[in-house]
Amino acid sequence: MNILLLGSGGREHTLAWKISKSILCDKLYIAPGNAGTMQHGENVPIDFNDFEALGRFSIVNNISLLVVGPEEPLVNGIYDFFKENDQLNHIAILGPSQKGAQLEGSKHFAKDFMSRYDIPTASYSTFNSEQIEDAATFLRTLKPPYVIKANGLAAGKGVIIVDEYEEALRQVKDMLLNKRFGAASDTIVIEEFLNGVELSVFVITDGNGWILLPEAKDYKRIGANDTGLNTGGMGSISPVPFADEDFMQKVKDRIIQPTIKGLQSDNIDYKGFIFFGLINVGGQPFVIEYNVRLGDPETESVIPRIKSDIVQTILECANGNLINKTIEIDPRSAATVMLVSGGYPGEYVKGYKVTDLKSGNANTLIFHAGTTYKDENIVTNGGRVIAVTSLAESAKEALLLSFERAERINFSDKYFRNDIGFDIL
Ligand code: AMP
Ligand code: GLY
Repeated sequence: MNILLLGSGGREHTLAWKISKSILCDKLYIAPGNAGTMQHGENVPIDFNDFEALGRFSIVNNISLLVVGPEEPLVNGIYDFFKENDQLNHIAILGPSQKGAQLEGSKHFAKDFMSRYDIPTASYSTFNSEQIEDAATFLRTLKPPYVIKANGLAAGKGVIIVDEYEEALRQVKDMLLNKRFGAASDTIVIEEFLNGVELSVFVITDGNGWILLPEAKDYKRIGANDTGLNTGGMGSISPVPFADEDFMQKVKDRIIQPTIKGLQSDNIDYKGFIFFGLINVGGQPFVIEYNVRLGDPETESVIPRIKSDIVQTILECANGNLINKTIEIDPRSAATVMLVSGGYPGEYVKGYKVTDLKSGNANTLIFHAGTTYKDENIVTNGGRVIAVTSLAESAKEALLLSFERAERINFSDKYFRNDIGFDIL
């Protein structure tokens, strides 16, 4: 069958690599893709939010499966757009309906969902621009640090954590009155701060059956020892040492199962990934956030640990046949190190030539995150440029392989954290 994959990051290169290995995949297209996805299929220059153009392309190219990488087209309703069109509704789609995508698209929706289904999360309250006084009063009831979130999608920048009450109130006003994040901060969520270690847990679900994928830990800060600004993610490891059987049983019983039940009770059409952003507070899992897609750079260490044919599982999901299905997981550890442009997550230059990308070793994979082709060269095209993933018997070995390989890829102003996994080494 012909498959169309949407997105252009390291997550999508990893998915393209895996999808292209499937015996079920005849032709893979990636919109818009990057210089790495081109190794596994054909890039097509269509914006992933241009549903009309994607629909026309799908008809002309006989697409049977649409795999949606990023959240934006899902929150914008790509699933509903295809399902409501007679010429497109035969296409299997991996990704939830617009209503389901609200789990990520609206923090208020997600918090309300969790509170209705008794899913452990930080206590919270929601406010709009007419409720500044109420927000000020609510902040008084919380202990610092204060967590303030724009309700809608804000490109990963919509969460502010501050220590001082006055600063918290200033941030609240900036979001609600000055529209700091545009419509995304018309409403805000203020919540209790949870202290613990985060991890990312993933399932693929058809809204009834679900399969647990390998979990991962993302290293979000730009600087060594988790210091400096937040980024999209500087590296990841899978499995996560503290996610033992006992902890994961709590995750399944208290979080995953009630979430699937909640989707059913709310009559939400959901066939896709759920990414549970969790925090381990003294051995108890809490949900920080839901995402309706895979994580990046978690995907780069999670997907290579899946041994089964992913297209088969995706089709079982999209066709609602996931119940009692399983996947085979590689017991080895995966470790991903992200190579970024100097200056990221602030300003950085694009267009530097990237060299020495040939993989030297069967256990090390190179995924492009922000690259493009220019004048026959691969050049940098984003803050996060290349992800190096290695598989080995231990996390330590996998990390050392990835660090070693990361050293030998070259582009101007290259930077990577050489302490990914420092907390487990
Ligand atoms: P989010 O965009 O919801 O993932 O939030 C971004 C980051 O802010 C999370 O990955 C956490 O590190 C942090 N965060 C969000 N909510 C809380 C909370 N209630 N307590 C502690 N940290 C939080
Ligand atoms: N790595 C976190 C995310 O994809 O949101």
